[in-house]
Amino acid sequence: MVQYISRTLWNLCQKGFRQFLSQKGGLFESESSTYTYLLADTNTKEAVIIDPVLETIDRDLKLIKELGLNLTVAVNTHCHADHITSTGLMKQRVAGLKSAISKFSGATADIHLTEGDNIPFGRHSLTVKETPGHTDGCITLVTGDQTMAFTGDALLIRGCGRTDFQQGCAEKLYHSVHEKIFTLPDECLIYPAHDYLGQTVSTVGEERKFNPRLTKSMEEFVELMNNLNLPKPKKIDISVPANLVCGLHHV
Ligand SMILES: [Fe+2]
Repeated sequence: MVQYISRTLWNLCQKGFRQFLSQKGGLFESESSTYTYLLADTNTKEAVIIDPVLETIDRDLKLIKELGLNLTVAVNTHCHADHITSTGLMKQRVAGLKSAISKFSGATADIHLTEGDNIPFGRHSLTVKETPGHTDGCITLVTGDQTMAFTGDALLIRGCGRTDFQQGCAEKLYHSVHEKIFTLPDECLIYPAHDYLGQTVSTVGEERKFNPRLTKSMEEFVELMNNLNLPKPKKIDISVPANLVCGLHHV
């Protein structure tokens, strides 16, 4: 189903809809291991970008220009702690671009999203599913045909986002994944916000069967998540305040 072609690659998941990818699956930012995703209607050229990173804004805008896309919305899956979003700067550089984030993120944006909202691009759209637990304002974005889900930090490939800061709650995350993501079709592709091992894509069916954390009982999951003892993300003290204002005024 995923077709890799030369350096700029795409997953042609239905006629007239493309996800533009780089060698590593999404548009990868190596310092925070973040994937940015660019989705476009190939007929109307309207496009949406998911989780763009400040450090890679020039790469992303160059690709958008090369492909002749009209970027209408930059959406963040949550208020990130490990990197600064390029959304605010992108708004200054792309006329008419609107920012979007969950209403429950606490962050400013042109569009505050809630459960069931649609982000249209041409004949296509992304539907918002609220998947809190890593943060209160985490969302998963699902394509209209339910063939692709952009899960942010709620569900990673064989993992999940941590739940020990920014309103993190393991119990909430467990419910979110089981009720909002694992109920999607088995073959729905999972595109996470991060991967630290070079993995690019999974499916709902695979994660439901093999995710070592989310296949546990809720009690076991909560116990595990509450005892990860991970170090604090290096950039949390600058990233979170900056991301509350779309990544602007970060210095
Ligand atoms: Fe995060």
